Amino acid sequence: MKLTPVAALCAAVIGVTGQQQVLGQRPDPPNIVLILTDDQDVRLSSLDYMPLVKKHLVDKGTYYDKHYCTTAVCCPARVTLMTGKAAHNTNITDVNPPYGGYPKFVRQGFNSAYLPVWLQEAGYNVYYTGKLFNAHNVDNYNSPYPAGFTTHDFLLDPFTYNYMNSSFQRNQDQPQSYEGEYVTDVLAQKAYGLLDEAVDAKQPFFLMIAPSAPHADIQNNSGSLTFDAPVSAPRHANMFQDIKVPRTANFNPDIPSGANWIRSLEKQNSTNVNWNDHFHRQRLRALQAVDEMVDGLFSRLDSHKLLQNTYIIYSSDNGFHIGNHRMQPGKSTGCEEDINVPLIIRGPNVAQNQTTQLVTSHTDIAATIFSLLDIPLREDFDGSPIPVSKKAIEEAETKRREHVQVEYWGFAGGEGIYDRRLHQNNTFKGIRVVAEECNLYYQIWCTNEHELYDMSNDPGQMHNLLEDGGKLYTLFGFPIGKVVQRLDALLMAQKSCKGKTCREPWKSLHPDGRVQNLKDAMAERFDGFYEAQIKVQWDYCHNGYVPEAEGPMFGDERVEFADSGLMWPDWV
Ligand SMILES: *[C@@H]1O[C@H](CO)[C@@H](O)[C@H](O)[C@H]1NC(C)=O
Ligand SMILES: *[C@@H]1O[C@H](CO)[C@@H](O)[C@H](O)[C@H]1NC(C)=O
Ligand SMILES: *[C@@H]1O[C@H](CO)[C@@H](O)[C@H](O)[C@H]1NC(C)=O
Ligand SMILES: *[C@@H]1O[C@H](CO)[C@@H](O)[C@H](O)[C@H]1NC(C)=O
Ligand SMILES: *[C@@H]1O[C@H](CO)[C@@H](O)[C@H](O)[C@H]1NC(C)=O
Ligand SMILES: *[C@@H]1O[C@H](CO)[C@@H](O)[C@H](O)[C@H]1NC(C)=O
Repeated sequence: MKLTPVAALCAAVIGVTGQQQVLGQRPDPPNIVLILTDDQDVRLSSLDYMPLVKKHLVDKGTYYDKHYCTTAVCCPARVTLMTGKAAHNTNITDVNPPYGGYPKFVRQGFNSAYLPVWLQEAGYNVYYTGKLFNAHNVDNYNSPYPAGFTTHDFLLDPFTYNYMNSSFQRNQDQPQSYEGEYVTDVLAQKAYGLLDEAVDAKQPFFLMIAPSAPHADIQNNSGSLTFDAPVSAPRHANMFQDIKVPRTANFNPDIPSGANWIRSLEKQNSTNVNWNDHFHRQRLRALQAVDEMVDGLFSRLDSHKLLQNTYIIYSSDNGFHIGNHRMQPGKSTGCEEDINVPLIIRGPNVAQNQTTQLVTSHTDIAATIFSLLDIPLREDFDGSPIPVSKKAIEEAETKRREHVQVEYWGFAGGEGIYDRRLHQNNTFKGIRVVAEECNLYYQIWCTNEHELYDMSNDPGQMHNLLEDGGKLYTLFGFPIGKVVQRLDALLMAQKSCKGKTCREPWKSLHPDGRVQNLKDAMAERFDGFYEAQIKVQWDYCHNGYVPEAEGPMFGDERVEFADSGLMWPDWV
């Protein structure tokens, strides 16, 4: 069942003549609905407060517990999701120009090379409502218009996070202001309208819905941007009175944790903590209108008899922390709260009421959508399809890549009302390995500070195993230094990977395929090989992706090692 460009052409021709459409030619090409919330955490348990998402998605689909965004901030994460490329290959690394935002997306040529355009080329009708990218605003929305849509109705800056005075822009129309109306309710009506339109068109469709909830509220007060707690619909204002941010091991701890700027934060006083709990409740309240919208979508999909033939995907651009490691509400770091994000998929042949620990990331989403629709994968995808059937998931459990590469450039800022400092030098590369024996997070900051956490025994990332040189510790039976050598080499190979080298990371180190995972790489016969590798080392901190700042790169003359397969024969 392939929707090739030829099929697409036929579909268009048949569509115009009002005949059987593509559906007559291809029995049942599936549809996709993708819901992408803004800043929704996994680790602060927000999904526990969304009973309708649970009912329609978690109970009837597969929950990917180890799904990650690779760059924990809106625009880079969204561009990665819609291009299938890591941020170091899109060079969209920030929310605003010069390093990110909609103008940079256009300048990098992605307006003709991203998911909506590709899906249209494959014969799909493509609909979108909600936030697309940051810095897509009431002034630049038409220069150029985002490409690839049958109908779009975008939320525009600077009103994207103004919950009671949003601005939407439909097709070629002028932006329209919705003063006094609750943004997610406006969005829900638009989403339902687009679904009706998609059904009327009798073509297979892709519908993307991107609410701004539960992002912080932002008002532009004569030029200065003020962050505040998100705003709920009035009907949800009194819910969850007793709920607080989960008091996990890293919540406002007595001792400082992390490295770099995080390490220097002071413990929050009770006024600050109380307000952060309020901020948390406002997020949960704001998510209620999203939960209701999901319910509304499912009842419409059901009444249109589309549920059997539609994949529904639910995720968020990046995660969120509140008080963890003493940080003010925000994202942008490599901590688990920021990078672990929801992913739930429901649809034909998707395992129901299933949770998997397979490691997946936003880099995989475009490839996943291609695969679900039987479109041939692009060679330049940095990610690979996420398996959805029970059988495919079980097969992948032994074969699939067990890590994600995390990267960030620039600064981190709090989004609450306290401590509004912008923390510079928040530039780093990380690697999150999830395997039974080695469940780790490794990060190297642009200041060359190193962090390594044992995520099984220290899920809150409170004890950096490298703090005292790591000499005292062993990790799954190996001295830490040896584990770090492997992680260094893997990170070196991943930080500038492209396409296949991202998809098959160990192959760039071991071209003969003898090493498939960290455990394989730990074999003693590779000790010399890993010891000899040049390490990841930053030359300086920069706010964007400037290769000169990032030290040796895999493949340049400083890093030429690859296991020849000859020096360390199997019998050693
Ligand atoms: C989902 O599975 C769990 C056990 O894994 C079971 O207790 C629960 O009833 C199931 N829920 C549904 C809706 O099938
Ligand atoms: C709402 O936004 C519009 C612009 O879209 C602006 O003209 C109007 O003054 C705003 N209303 C309020 C109450 O801020
Ligand atoms: C905020 O408002 C000022 C005018 O009051 C405007 O010049 C500026 O562009 C706005 N900022 C943003 C980010 O929209
Ligand atoms: C609590 O901390 C906040 C943020 O640092 C500060 O603004 C406030 O004055 C402090 N309040 C008290 C009572 O110390
Ligand atoms: C940022 O890192 C550079 C080194 O690249 C250092 O010189 C500078 O002091 C750091 N700035 C801050 C604000 O930490
Ligand atoms: C990324 O974009 C920035 C800003 O335009 C530019 O300075 C930098 O050279 C680009 N990096 C790469 C690797 O192309």
